[in-house]
Amino acid sequence: SVPIIVDCDPGHDDALALWLAAGHPALDLLAVTAVGGNVPLEHTSRNARIVLSVAGVDVPVAAGAAGPLSRELVTAEWIHGENGLGGPDLPEPALPLDPRSATELMADTLEAASEPVAIVATGPLTNVAVLLRDRPDLAPRIREIVWMGGSTERGNATPYAEFNALVDPEALALVLGSGVRFTMVGLNVTHRALVTPAVRTALAAAGTRTAAFGDELLEFFCRTNDEVFGMPDGPLHDPVAVAVLADPGCVELRHTRLDVELTGTETLGATSVDFDGMLGREPNAWVAVGLDVDRFWAGVVDAVARLA
Ligand code: BDR
Ligand code: CA
Repeated sequence: SVPIIVDCDPGHDDALALWLAAGHPALDLLAVTAVGGNVPLEHTSRNARIVLSVAGVDVPVAAGAAGPLSRELVTAEWIHGENGLGGPDLPEPALPLDPRSATELMADTLEAASEPVAIVATGPLTNVAVLLRDRPDLAPRIREIVWMGGSTERGNATPYAEFNALVDPEALALVLGSGVRFTMVGLNVTHRALVTPAVRTALAAAGTRTAAFGDELLEFFCRTNDEVFGMPDGPLHDPVAVAVLADPGCVELRHTRLDVELTGTETLGATSVDFDGMLGREPNAWVAVGLDVDRFWAGVVDAVARLA
């Protein structure tokens, strides 16, 4: 199985991403780190522990950056609620917060593993950028980085920027420049991972405590997506990044040139994907272009059914 670290900002879809990472038999979840994103770090670092505790998963969880490398944090309470996991009553997390920083936990995990470890990032890339900036010696220990963010098309936080890219575009630029294999899973594919009524029925039928908690999360998530975007079948972005590693055949990738806008007055955080090689630059990333939707959901449901 593939050893992975998940760096996240839960967040409803981050919660499902954590469960897919913990429950999928092809993955070995070694550690979880939290970053400020959808809501401030105090919530995301607690929420990560809550969703893992609900699922009976015992891995170290550490808190990382409270905000972007060089900007003010932008949050998304209108989608995820004031505490980041609107919907269910939140229990006290059984998992403690690891005393190490996210960078220290990632570094220790990379150094202790017998093979390179993949990092799946489902929030702004701040923690991953700090790791690569402060511990460049560890880059060879990272098998690859798979990130939910960006888009080959339009945005969801501004007309041309996706939320995770907009929050910390400098972090994305730093990670892209690191030379570590990088895969972007953007809105162009995650907008196909829709939480339809049939998906909710299948998930609830898993019958686990995790499934019941997840159903309350998805009810809230679909309601806010309907209010904000007019999409009652909310797009469950983050688990698609996990699926790239859990079930590679399920997400189609293209090797291409990826850059991010750092100075635009209207387009800050926009991802520029040069499929046609118009800029004459070397390809530097893999970009998701297709999703086997049924296979994706089957994997999510199966993972949730394996948890507590
Ligand atoms: C991304 O932004 C967050 O609100 C979600 O958790 C996801 O990571 C989608 O744009
Ligand atoms: Ca997220």
